[in-house]
Amino acid sequence: MNQYVVTGGAGFIGSAIVRSLLAEGAGKVVVIDNLLSGREENLEEVRARVELVRADIRDYEAIAPVIRGAAVVFHEAAIPSVPRSITEPIPSHDVNINGTFNVLRAAKEGGAGRVVYAASSSAYGDTEVLPKVEGMAPRPKSPYALQKLVGEYYGTVFADVYGVETVSLRYFNVYGPRQDPSSPYSGVLSLFMKAVLERTQPTIFGDGEQSRDFTYVEDVAGLNLKAARAKNVSGKVYNGGNGGRITLNQAWVLLQKIEGVEIAAKYGPPRAGDVRDSQADTTLAVRDLGHAPRFTFEAGMRATLEWYRTQR
Ligand code: UD1
Repeated sequence: MNQYVVTGGAGFIGSAIVRSLLAEGAGKVVVIDNLLSGREENLEEVRARVELVRADIRDYEAIAPVIRGAAVVFHEAAIPSVPRSITEPIPSHDVNINGTFNVLRAAKEGGAGRVVYAASSSAYGDTEVLPKVEGMAPRPKSPYALQKLVGEYYGTVFADVYGVETVSLRYFNVYGPRQDPSSPYSGVLSLFMKAVLERTQPTIFGDGEQSRDFTYVEDVAGLNLKAARAKNVSGKVYNGGNGGRITLNQAWVLLQKIEGVEIAAKYGPPRAGDVRDSQADTTLAVRDLGHAPRFTFEAGMRATLEWYRTQR
């Protein structure tokens, strides 16, 4: 029996969950990853205690035996990125919706204890009020936002009709070590880190006054472990942010200050499907899950920048 299974466990967020599980005493963790965007190097320090199953969540027959009997499945495997879902909607639909269905179905058929699902703050879209509260009507603005919302709905329905325990965590722009900065679809802070270390100009889409509740990856991993243990939360959805918000202009100013350089950003046209402002109300996650983020934005940025420096 596999106690803990992490889909996408070789990825940026998944590998952080794997490390947290092992640090908290798990003997072994099983990772399901197709290594499309995940990398075995992300598991380097813990490789001996990880069983890596190279499989795609679109392949039910491949993943079902791995998930069978698991105590907790952390479902992180996805094709992220709002713009990527606009330019490549088919693979993103297949992985994010059909793949998630396969994971839930495997959990149901295999009697897994709980599925903790990586949902997304993008599901809110542009709300009239900030911060964003779980009870607000979702208004997805992109295929990605919709796909992540469907996964949540599926989780709640599997909890209600099949009794599979599920918890969805709406991540708010996760950043930190191991986020891959090599693609135009990469998270904005990873691209900012690369730019500041290479002394090149980052591109800001729009006026840079859009804001995000950037959340440090270790805080997200910690929240996942709490969601795995919490009682009376099945079928529920929680915000996994910090509760603050930072504009892109502010983030770039801070990064220049930390690095001691002055580099003006380039500005490009606003991006399709972009949400203007994002900020989590964390009341429910604090109350029900014991959510307790530890990293201020500046502390997270400093730690992340140091990691990117070591990778050069
Ligand atoms: C969205 C979701 C987030 C999800 C992520 C997955 C929202 C509020 N958040 O993040 O929950 O996990 O997708 O990928 O929808 N930008 C630049 N220059 C760049 C790259 C990006 O200015 O080179 C801008 C974007 O236009 C956007 C912001 O930075 O305004 C953040 O972009 P990105 O890091 O891609 O994340 P979101 O799309 O916000």
